[in-house]
Amino acid sequence: MAKRHEVVEPEIAIDPDLYCSAQPYDNDWQSETTSIGSSIYRGLEENGRRYQTLSRKEYLNPSDDKMFETYEAGHLVALVMDSERENPLFHSPIGDHPKNILDIGTGQGNWAVDVADMFPMATVRGVDLFPPPVTWMPPNCILEVDNIAEDWTWNEPQDLIHMRLMIGSFDAAEWARVYKQCFDNLRPGGWIEQLEASPYIECDDDSLPADNVLRTWGPALSECGKRAGRPLETIDMMQDAVRDAGFVEIHEKQYKWPIGPWARDQKYKEAGTVNYQHWMSGMEGWAMWLLTKYGAPHPWTQEEVIVYVAKLRAELQNPRHHIYERARRVWARKPFPNEPSPASSGRGPVIKTESV
Ligand SMILES: C[S@@+](CC[C@H](N)C(=O)[O-])C[C@H]1O[C@@H](n2cnc3c(N)ncnc32)[C@H](O)[C@@H]1O
Repeated sequence: MAKRHEVVEPEIAIDPDLYCSAQPYDNDWQSETTSIGSSIYRGLEENGRRYQTLSRKEYLNPSDDKMFETYEAGHLVALVMDSERENPLFHSPIGDHPKNILDIGTGQGNWAVDVADMFPMATVRGVDLFPPPVTWMPPNCILEVDNIAEDWTWNEPQDLIHMRLMIGSFDAAEWARVYKQCFDNLRPGGWIEQLEASPYIECDDDSLPADNVLRTWGPALSECGKRAGRPLETIDMMQDAVRDAGFVEIHEKQYKWPIGPWARDQKYKEAGTVNYQHWMSGMEGWAMWLLTKYGAPHPWTQEEVIVYVAKLRAELQNPRHHIYERARRVWARKPFPNEPSPASSGRGPVIKTESV
């Protein structure tokens, strides 16, 4: 039997000053554009957004400047939420001298570039369906364009394979194959690590009324994900998937990522400030493909999505809503030869849960 210790973060304390101000949050966010004229870079324009064309199977998020801005904000939220750690980038104990690190679904490559800076002697690869718009990289960082749902062709055994915010990327069979390929491409004793966030907007007190439009977001997108055959509950399935792939020593850390600077504690306030920008810049892109293809009761128009997102944005700006999304980090080790894996021993591994 798998033994699981669930430790959920305590309720986040509220900043009384901000609560009393009732001023909407500021909306200033810089974007950077890059234009390179290859066909992969051109992608496919649809509903005012640009999508990747490498995979014949569509991926739900656009690959455009607005979305890269969103990925950068998501990267910062993850770093702030672990800012008390010497290494906020990952938790896997890979030692000081890793040789090969792989970041799959690297997005803009923010994580891969930071990890390459941290380990100048390692080769850090980031791979994605769309070429990341980066102008400078450390010499030990390689960003590649490839589809990780297909056969992997890297030869070097990896010390760490990392994934972040891959929610909604795959159906169940593709996920199982991705974890299997992670397992096969790690050296014995190497680590897999994944950080995912929930699509639901949550609230621990009564500050978000039951009929608020923000409460419709998670269920609406989750239903679209199901109809698309790509459930968005990645955060809740990854521990089992990692165990089923044969990994041992499974750890998890649960987070509440505040949305907006409503919290009193400085770390949560900073994370909430950046996460607010993450959501403001991200919502249209996260919703557009799902709702225009799989919206209920019929696929939505682009205009309907834009109007819906405008309503959500207006509510996100309200400092009285003490809202957050759940996030979870899972890291686990590939067993050494002759070390019994849970699959072969018939025992589930203990999941060690960290509270933060
Ligand atoms: C939400 S983004 C997260 C990006 C990055 N991991 C981060 O946290 O900033 C997910 C990324 O996965 C990539 N992706 C989705 N399916 C993929 C596939 N089959 N092969 C490679 N990359 C994929 C998308 O193109 C997108 O850039």
